[in-house]
Amino acid sequence: MNDFLPLALYVHWPFCVSKCPYCDFNSHVRDQVDQARWRDALLADLAHEAAVLPGRRLGSIFFGGGTPSLMPPETVAALLSAAEAAWGFTKDIEITLEANPSSVEAARFANLAAAGVNRVSLGLQALDDDALAFLGRAHDVNEGLGALDVAQAVFDRVSFDLIYARPGQSLADWKAELARALAFGTEHLSLYQLTIEPGTRFATLAAKGELTIPDGDTAAELFETTQDMTRAAGLPRYEVSNHARPGAESRHNLTYWRYRDYAGIGPGAHGRRGGMATVRHKKPENWLKTVDRNRHGMQSEDVLDPRDRASEALVMGLRMREGIMVDPSWVDFAAVDRLVGHGLLTRTGDHIATTEAGILLLDSILPTIARDI
Ligand SMILES: C[S@@+](CC[C@H](N)C(=O)[O-])C[C@H]1O[C@@H](n2cnc3c(N)ncnc32)[C@H](O)[C@@H]1O
Ligand code: SF4
Repeated sequence: MNDFLPLALYVHWPFCVSKCPYCDFNSHVRDQVDQARWRDALLADLAHEAAVLPGRRLGSIFFGGGTPSLMPPETVAALLSAAEAAWGFTKDIEITLEANPSSVEAARFANLAAAGVNRVSLGLQALDDDALAFLGRAHDVNEGLGALDVAQAVFDRVSFDLIYARPGQSLADWKAELARALAFGTEHLSLYQLTIEPGTRFATLAAKGELTIPDGDTAAELFETTQDMTRAAGLPRYEVSNHARPGAESRHNLTYWRYRDYAGIGPGAHGRRGGMATVRHKKPENWLKTVDRNRHGMQSEDVLDPRDRASEALVMGLRMREGIMVDPSWVDFAAVDRLVGHGLLTRTGDHIATTEAGILLLDSILPTIARDI
């Protein structure tokens, strides 16, 4: 257990202006949101976590979505003061909010910063108008870059997301787009390859043969070029899709990958704290009704046995470039050494890490090396 380490808090805001055709996040479009009711319900869900997790300090808070930049800044401010009163903040607390890069939202950035947000993660997604239209985004490149300018003026720390390996995107196109992105000078970038998620509009199109993403070899080539260019620009990969200037990594996300404690509140939020896995009701209306009834939105709270904890720690740890110290009782070192021989892992004593080739095969590596404990 890691009671002495700072705690992380995740807050889920499930609403979006429209649903993007690739997205399977817990995000919903609603005509009306009763803002006072949502603020009070999130405060109640937070108070529940604070009551079961006393004596911890918060080292990071992450407002994710959905589109948390649609939250009223007063709700963000109310949650931050309740969190500080309940737990206390470390001196250098990181408070991130995910934002869509529209001009309407950019106009609220100053108020969100005044509420205490000190890091923003902006969903630019592409630097090409046709690609943005294909991704079903409400903004074009100009509007997105306008929002990036405001974000860089207002927040201490700025990151943005791009989706690459899009249908028909050539290596030369991606190199030009990434070079432009790196020139904006942010300290952090999240670069995701487009994945077709079950249940999305893109999955329907892909099933009908109307949408094809690059094959494995092309995707690998795009990934390797991404690594070369980001490394040369001083923003090496520190996780599968995340790049940062050393020291500017997302502390909140490192908490997940280093398998340390985090509390999760709001619809569908997951938590891992005190050896328990917590899950909130996913559908916004069900979560709200549960909070009305119980003063928290919990759907399930399960004790994780050592085997679950070990495999979760492996899955998370091997996503990071820094790798993971493993316990010989839950890892099969003979299997690890075979994968070292194939150039997929590195090992020094009890420390293992994935190579770039290994990252591309991460899902197939893990079952091979975890012992049956
Ligand atoms: C919760 S979403 C971002 C929040 C914000 N609403 C937005 O769209 O900008 C987190 C990020 O995951 C990425 N993402 C979501 N679905 C994806 C998919 N199917 N393939 C690749 N990246 C995806 C996008 O880059 C997105 O910005
Ligand atoms: S990508 Fe962002 S804006 Fe689009 S539906 Fe998903 S959470 Fe909402």
